[in-house]
Amino acid sequence: MKIIMLGAPGAGKGTQAKMIAAKYAIPHISTGDIFRANIKNGTELGMEAKKYMDQGLLVPDELTVRILLDRVAQADCAGGYVLDGFPRTIPQAQVLDEALGKLGDSIDYAIDVNVPDENIVKRMSGRRACLTCGATYHVEHIPPKKEGICDNCGSPLVLRDDDKPETVLNRLKVYHDQTQPLIDFYSAKGVLRTVDGTQGMDDVFASIVAILEK
Ligand code: AP5
Ligand code: MG
Repeated sequence: MKIIMLGAPGAGKGTQAKMIAAKYAIPHISTGDIFRANIKNGTELGMEAKKYMDQGLLVPDELTVRILLDRVAQADCAGGYVLDGFPRTIPQAQVLDEALGKLGDSIDYAIDVNVPDENIVKRMSGRRACLTCGATYHVEHIPPKKEGICDNCGSPLVLRDDDKPETVLNRLKVYHDQTQPLIDFYSAKGVLRTVDGTQGMDDVFASIVAILEK
């Protein structure tokens, strides 16, 4: 099963992708997490990506596509995967399409987690992220068991650099300009499904499972 998560920044793509990955035992691949891990480790790729991420801009397609295609070619992806934050532009979607097409394969579902802009800024300011294992929490809605500490790996939780309100507004603009057109792209392929992302996270997940098991 090959799944793409679509949705605005903060819609809950990562939260749901992790739940899907756990239930169906497929890898969760987040280009944002890959970039953040590289920034944390001070790699050249990380330094390059950070220039764009800190401004709420997209990392150039060329770089992003290379990383993603390398990742999905790994052995653990043979049985499928859930992509979170990729594709984010029409050219990225086309490259993925072509790469899968060469293998006689295609995306099974593109799930749009729909959340209006006004809910987004509030969610982002409350988000806390673990930069070690990628887990995500929310100070009100999804708190960790121990304040400021990751339940999974015990690392300290941080506010992401790009979650400052002014950067979030920029990310939303970039989303509407460059990523939202993917909704029509996948709709035309007949694989688009939409879920109401304003529900609680378990209800959003139940809606997704209902789609995947229909
Ligand atoms: P990325 O890491 O993908 O960020 P994003 O798309 O902006 O999305 P987020 O991770 O911020 O949100 P999410 O939808 O995963 O929500 P989450 O589950 O955390 O990308 C970051 C940057 O990297 C980009 O800006 C770009 O620069 C670069 N990049 C990445 N991929 C790229 C690509 N393909 N091309 C070019 N550049 C790329 O949830 C948000 C919060 O809400 C959390 O606190 C969570 O706990 C809470 N929450 C989740 N669900 C619910 C719920 N149902 N109810 C209440 N709260 C909830
Ligand atoms: Mg995310």
